[in-house]
Amino acid sequence: MYVLGIESSCDETGVAIYHSEQGLCSHLLYSQVDMHSEYGGVVPELASRDHIRKLVPLIKQCLQESQLTGSDINGIAYTAGPGLMGALLVGAATARSLAWAWQIPAIAVHHMEGHLLAPMLEENPPEFPFVALLISGGHTLLVQVEGIGRYQLLGESLDDAAGEAFDKTAKMLGLGYPGGPKLSALAEQGTPQIKFPRPMTDRPGLDFSFSGLKTFTMNTINASGKTEQDKADIAAAFQQAVAETLSIKCKRALQQTGLKRLVIAGGVSANKQIRASLTKMVAKENAELYFPRLEFCTDNGAMIAYAGCQRLMAGQQQGLEIYARPRWPISELD
Ligand code: KG4
Ligand code: ZN
Repeated sequence: MYVLGIESSCDETGVAIYHSEQGLCSHLLYSQVDMHSEYGGVVPELASRDHIRKLVPLIKQCLQESQLTGSDINGIAYTAGPGLMGALLVGAATARSLAWAWQIPAIAVHHMEGHLLAPMLEENPPEFPFVALLISGGHTLLVQVEGIGRYQLLGESLDDAAGEAFDKTAKMLGLGYPGGPKLSALAEQGTPQIKFPRPMTDRPGLDFSFSGLKTFTMNTINASGKTEQDKADIAAAFQQAVAETLSIKCKRALQQTGLKRLVIAGGVSANKQIRASLTKMVAKENAELYFPRLEFCTDNGAMIAYAGCQRLMAGQQQGLEIYARPRWPISELD
């Protein structure tokens, strides 16, 4: 079964074709980063308009690169949420219309389920069950995964998402958008001089909170010198605090569930220090760590095509409506 996947929930237009037996045929990504960086963040209306411009040409190119035509495609998967309403509607309307024209089923995919299943595209995919840490620009979730659609939420952020904390801290340090990769690059030039808080690690539970860390960083910036080295040291201390906090919570989640496999996914899972800190932790726990290749950590069409393919093969499909849900708790999936 060939499945065309479409991702347009935020500032990346992703298109991919996945085959149920052969795997990934091709995938393309257009990032709107340059357009939004002028404004210091994502401008939703501009994002929607750009998805309209890019989506159909990308679909055509993806078919061409896979040496397929529309008549070869057996199903279409699109990100239906969570995300920006206008951006989601572009992908949903395009997917739904193509599916109608080609007389094939369409399936609405939850963006975070896409991230969660992204490591399945790798050569050594994790077996179920596992614990997943999903860290993106909009979400920080710890999930116990028994199988596709069988997700039990173990913990989540009570305020800012991990990626949001990176982006806001980067802004405070005068780095541009998107902040995560820029802050991470700056952190490599610094050494932590001050110990930043590890929020909510001193009490039981698996929830996160990153807004206090943001305030602490702000106060540190105001109190410190403003040299490039000061900034790099602050970036390093912030990143270390996030990495350690995530590591402590994941260790707890593994111990609490008795599971020995940890999956990390979402944009922030591209962060080297976070990967290193989790790698160290799982080794001590006799567990294994799985993550997607770097380009599939951030938003992409391949993860949506994969997730959609699994659901279509299980017999699910969407009705004829254009389905988009800006807010969509992962626990509501079945
Ligand atoms: O998954 P993603 O592409 O989009 C959402 O679903 O939100 O994640 C984007 C987030 C942004 O907050 C970005 O700053 C962060 O991932 N990010 C990183 C790194 N690369 C991307 N954060 C820290 N270190 C990185 N290397
Ligand atoms: Zn994402």
